[in-house]
Amino acid sequence: MANMAPSPDAKPLTLALAGFGTVGSGLGHLLEENADQIRRRSGRSIRIKHILVRNLLKARQYAIPEGAMITRDPETLTDDPEVDVLVELIGGIEDAHDLVDRALDHDKHVVTANKALLAEAGDDLFLKAEQRNLILRYEASVAGAVPIVQALKESLAGNRIISLMGILNGTSNYILSEMTTAGIEFADALQQAQRLGYAEADPTLDIDGHDAAHKLALLIRLAFGVNYPCRSIFVRGIRDIASLDISFAREFNYRIKLIGQVREVRDESGVPHLEAGVFPALVQDTFLLARVGGAYNAVRLDANASGPMFFHGRGAGALPTAGAVLADILAIARGERPNNTGYVNGELPMASIVPSEEWRSRYYVRLTVQDKPGTLRDLAGCMAAEDVSVASMIQKSQIRNLSEGASGVPLVFMTHETSARAMANALMRMSDGGLLEEPAVFHRVL
Ligand SMILES: NC(=O)c1ccc[n+]([C@@H]2O[C@H](COP(=O)([O-])OP(=O)(O)OC[C@H]3O[C@@H](n4cnc5c(N)ncnc54)[C@H](OP(=O)(O)O)[C@@H]3O)[C@@H](O)[C@H]2O)c1
Repeated sequence: MANMAPSPDAKPLTLALAGFGTVGSGLGHLLEENADQIRRRSGRSIRIKHILVRNLLKARQYAIPEGAMITRDPETLTDDPEVDVLVELIGGIEDAHDLVDRALDHDKHVVTANKALLAEAGDDLFLKAEQRNLILRYEASVAGAVPIVQALKESLAGNRIISLMGILNGTSNYILSEMTTAGIEFADALQQAQRLGYAEADPTLDIDGHDAAHKLALLIRLAFGVNYPCRSIFVRGIRDIASLDISFAREFNYRIKLIGQVREVRDESGVPHLEAGVFPALVQDTFLLARVGGAYNAVRLDANASGPMFFHGRGAGALPTAGAVLADILAIARGERPNNTGYVNGELPMASIVPSEEWRSRYYVRLTVQDKPGTLRDLAGCMAAEDVSVASMIQKSQIRNLSEGASGVPLVFMTHETSARAMANALMRMSDGGLLEEPAVFHRVL
């Protein structure tokens, strides 16, 4: 039997680590803690030669690994001929792009956790990596520890993906979970998330849905082999979610979650198009996605051979994210060949995009109306004119208990499936007709 033990002569893999913050220092720690396992899995050791930071004097969560040199000069990392892999963990777009681009120019493989970089400015990097036969891996960039990138690229490569939806932002999910379980309002839940370190001082990217949109753009590329530009993804965040709507949703046995979704829809000629968006939606209580709590992430997909699948795990944190980064590094250490996008052509075609007004969905609607005869009839007329029909309604008596002190009466119902355009038009008719005391609240229902 062949001797499977690693050769003591195998050359160590040399890393240049850009960033020694949450994930970078977690990676340094994991490389030491799992050193034996790393040698057994890849047949060689892995060492960090350079570490790039902004502030050389800053205290670190984990110690600088032995033998590593710390610098503020990016070119020390990219231009060192001894370096095999640049690990980009600085975040942001411009500096990270320059760094990765220069590393590829110097024939380094790259591992990154940076979804903003790959979603907003990744096309030329993928192309350059392909042209130079270099590996560009990014498992940690979507859903942290959850191995969805590799699953789409390899394990599910024999399938055609039909739809995919996920909870892709832990901060928003934490806030919505707290609003649901503790019955608090958005602003209080956000403050709590910031106090506990689940939300950044500037939470805009997370709560306005843009971080989830970055991850969705990467998932679309992996699942469908097309470019769906971030700016074309419909995005609506969670700032205006009220605890009142969370309570009403529960009356219908639903929870409100920030969902990233892409699905294939075929036109009459059978030609496939994609619709993709990030938005708060009502998810049925019994669905696994509704049960994803706190800072966890999850992805549910449907594929033509495997059927439905569900991935769930920690979407962030030093060690969970570093574990995914390390898996990418190990693949390079084992000498795997580049398979960066999961498709043989580096330049992927553009997606054929369904405009968001045409998406069809059921809707949750909350109206605040005057409690007077004829109101229901007039509202029904506005909906009938747009072919929107009501599927179920919360009884008025139940609502009164929930809305003490409010001016006007809330009217809460679910519609049958309709287009976003028809829904918006029906609400516009109600508003124009003076039927609404406050702007209507409406969310998609999954
Ligand atoms: N945190 C997570 O749980 C998580 C999960 C998934 C993906 N990610 C992604 O992983 C990446 C890193 O995130 P993180 O949370 O580890 O960030 P972080 O804690 O803010 O750390 C960033 C590190 O990069 C350094 N840095 C930033 N800009 C730099 C520049 N222009 N030049 C040189 N050094 C620079 C910082 O230096 P100083 O320390 O000197 O300031 C710091 O060491 C991001 O792309 C993020 O989206 C993070």
